[in-house]
Order: sequence, then structure tokens, then C-alpha cells
Amino acid sequence: MDSKLDAIEVQCWKSLALAIEDRDHPFKTAVLATLGARSRLFQRTVVLRGVDGDRRELIFHTDARAKKFQQIKTKPAVSLLFWDPSSRQQLSLQGVAEVTQRSKFADDQWHRTPVKSRTIYSVLTPPGTVTDGKARFLPRELSGINIDPAALQRGRPHFAVIKVRIDSVDWLQLKEREHRRASFVYDDDGSQKQARWIGA
Ligand SMILES: Cc1cc2nc3c(=O)[nH]c(=O)nc-3n(C[C@H](O)[C@H](O)[C@H](O)COP(=O)(O)O)c2cc1C
Repeated sequence: MDSKLDAIEVQCWKSLALAIEDRDHPFKTAVLATLGARSRLFQRTVVLRGVDGDRRELIFHTDARAKKFQQIKTKPAVSLLFWDPSSRQQLSLQGVAEVTQRSKFADDQWHRTPVKSRTIYSVLTPPGTVTDGKARFLPRELSGINIDPAALQRGRPHFAVIKVRIDSVDWLQLKEREHRRASFVYDDDGSQKQARWIGA
């Protein structure tokens, strides 16, 4: 047991949880990497929506018509990258993702999402489709100040939750003279299987 390592690991999960409450926290967004066909790699920015430190789970939202949705269904291995420039810490996580659209959990997440963020699931041109560049982005009932609840609900079938069970964390902190780096590996139940210092 190395108490310094344990403290770092606890701090990693605390920082992720903090990002849920604090919209300006640098861990509010991450780069999510997925595997596509022919083992091609794809990355994009996503907003961190939930953290369960005990289960080692992170929650993200997406449109089920987006490329990443199908990619995760086909190949659930994902990687997530976070960077906090103020504390100069990088978190590189690996895990297994699961996507759900029609579940009590997805319903709860939908209702917890601010109205403005929910409008995006009603975009007229599905994410990734080719457009003429002039098409309206949102239907009229959702683009003004008065949002029509029925129109908002029409986006619900497109709303999907990505749940990632993290199986390893690579933590790196840049220091003036000596960088520090550690790796943590988890069992399926979220318990820590391994914690060690590694060369930066
Ligand atoms: C700051 C920022 C936050 C974003 N958050 C999300 C998000 O939470 N979920 C999401 O699906 N896309 C989000 N996007 C858009 C994605 O980066 C991406 O362009 C889109 O989801 C299509 O990805 P895909 O075609 O690879 O699936 C965000 C983009 C930016 C710049």
C-alpha cells in the first residue's frame, strides 16, 4: 500500500466529480476516442454529465444518430482524455462503454438535462449527414425563446446515454523539474486491482 498513490487516485475521482457541479472546471469536457470500421480511430469532444466514483463509471450524452453511437455498439472499447492546464494534470482513461436509449436511466438523464441542451436532439439534419449548408438547424418551435414542450419531446428518441466503465486510469502531472505519473487498474466491480508509479 502506498498512501501517496491512494491519495492521488482519490483526488482523480474527486476532480471528475467536481466537474459535474462546476461548469468551468477543465474536466467538464473530455476527448472521447472510439474505434470505427477497419480499426480506424475517431475522437471528439464530449461533456462529462455524470460520475460514479464507486462503480468507476462516467456518463455522457449523445445523439443516437451520431457515428459514435454505432461505433460503441459494435466496438465498446473507448478511451477518454482530460487535461487541466491550471493543475497541469492529464487523465487518460480506458474503459468499456455501453449506450442506452430506451431505459429508465436514459429517461432520468433526459429530464435532468436543461431544456436548451435538449433542443439539440431535434436538429433537422442528423449529426454527420451532408447538408446544403443552408438548411435550418432547429425546427421553428424550438429555435425561439418560447420552447414548445411537444416539439422538445420529439427529440427524445434520438437522445442516448453513454455509460463508460473505467478499467484503467493513467494520471500525469507536469512539474517544473520532475513529472509524476501513476497508473491504476480496476476489477469489474470497480475495486482497485493495481496502483503503481510509472515513469513519466
Ligand atoms: C465543447 C464541445 C462539447 C461537446 N459535447 C458533446 C456531447 O456531450 N455529446 C456529443 O455527442 N457531442 C458533443 N460535441 C460534439 C462532438 O464533439 C461531435 O462533433 C459530434 O458529437 C459528432 O461526433 P461523431 O460523429 O464522432 O459521433 C461537443 C463538441 C464540443 C466542441
